[in-house]
Amino acid sequence: MKLWGGRFEKNTDKLVDHFNSSISFDSRMYRHDILGSIAHAEMLGRCGIISEEESKLIQKTLLEILKDIEDGKVEFEIDAEDIHMNIEKLLISRIGETGKKLHTGRSRNDQVALDIRMYLMDEIKTIKSMLAELEDVLLSLAENNLDVIMPGYTHLQRAQPITLAHHLMAYFQMFARDLERLDDCFKRTAIMPLGSGALAGTTYPLDRHMVAEKLGFAAITENSLDAVSDRDFVIELAACLSIIMMHLSRFSEELVLWSTFEFGFVEMDDAYSTGSSIMPQKKNPDVAELVRGKTGRVYGSLIALLTVMKSLPLAYNKDMQEDKEAIFDSVDTVKMCLPVFTKMIATVKIKKENMYRAAQGGFINATDLADYLVKKGIPFRSSHEIVGKMVLYCIQNKKTLEQLTMEELRSFSPLIEEDVYRAISLEECVAGRKLPGGPAIESVMAQIEKGRAFLKSIKL
Ligand code: ARG
Repeated sequence: MKLWGGRFEKNTDKLVDHFNSSISFDSRMYRHDILGSIAHAEMLGRCGIISEEESKLIQKTLLEILKDIEDGKVEFEIDAEDIHMNIEKLLISRIGETGKKLHTGRSRNDQVALDIRMYLMDEIKTIKSMLAELEDVLLSLAENNLDVIMPGYTHLQRAQPITLAHHLMAYFQMFARDLERLDDCFKRTAIMPLGSGALAGTTYPLDRHMVAEKLGFAAITENSLDAVSDRDFVIELAACLSIIMMHLSRFSEELVLWSTFEFGFVEMDDAYSTGSSIMPQKKNPDVAELVRGKTGRVYGSLIALLTVMKSLPLAYNKDMQEDKEAIFDSVDTVKMCLPVFTKMIATVKIKKENMYRAAQGGFINATDLADYLVKKGIPFRSSHEIVGKMVLYCIQNKKTLEQLTMEELRSFSPLIEEDVYRAISLEECVAGRKLPGGPAIESVMAQIEKGRAFLKSIKL
């Protein structure tokens, strides 16, 4: 018989049992469900709602159930619907009448809200530490490639010279924001809903603050209707995870591009590449491609969650059971992608010479030549036009700007002098961009230093 079977005259249809049941996916919250129940039972005893002995027996038995689950001794039942009722049923089967007192002053609606919050709080912590590891690798990689000049791109056209360190630190900043976003999401997740009952609170004199404190929550929810029907924190996490995947995907895309013969900027370590079943010569950047590809399912979950919640009247509705698979899949996907991505970039082989060679083409020092003319007294718009003409001349004569002779240069502007060659060397172009946030070695070093301090300040 169902735990809620009293008012029913018939059993549910087998198909409905299957359809309704969430145990196949919410069983992963067993530990959080049990810890939540233990805190609830302790509070019920402390508040005199059940006796201290009953409270102790319930807590002790719940711990035994936890151990049995962890030892693989428990088989959950589809008929018992979800993890909450499976555990309650187990408890009742072990201690009878006393077990039936656990659910006093509680509903599955505030219980599931508690469990999912606790579960996600743990997952946020795990993902944060994975992100921190990736950040650490990025900092070391940047530090080792401070003077590695490469082209920076806009429109995927060579634009201005930068360094690999600068490029890597751009990703560091993205993941740093992701860490901050997760921190913020955690704040709104760590609010304790128990005591909200099914929707309208409860008449029992529960001590909600005691439960919150026991379970490591910073505060309790303010409104019982909101508490049982709020899944903002789930959606917020799905959004944070989508943004993380978006960053990983952009990075992956660049690595895929950079490993092509045409770019040749990097080569993935053998351990993070795969071959072709037909073409013997192939070495494919599958890991980066898969990370890029898995981004789709994480975005999909975000849209699924938003759509499930859209138009739901207050308060709890069974639709909300659909939150779990979506957020679990997002969490699992990010947890799978981050460590493998981190290892992949930690082992990537960097082909500095090819990066430098690519920076030598494409007139990426044209802006610097224009700036040189500005320093000689020509207004920027005019110098822009002069250099444009010089570039056209170079294209027609198959030369680079620095290959032009003094005579050729001066035919465009008599203000050009010998010092131009130094001014438009790639090294000088990078070194000159030493404002905070720029690619010059000293600027990137400052960025790295700040990055290290930021990582230290993040509470893991
Ligand atoms: N398995 C349900 C969920 O995931 C638990 C809450 C069910 N409450 C209810 N009254 N049916 O949302």
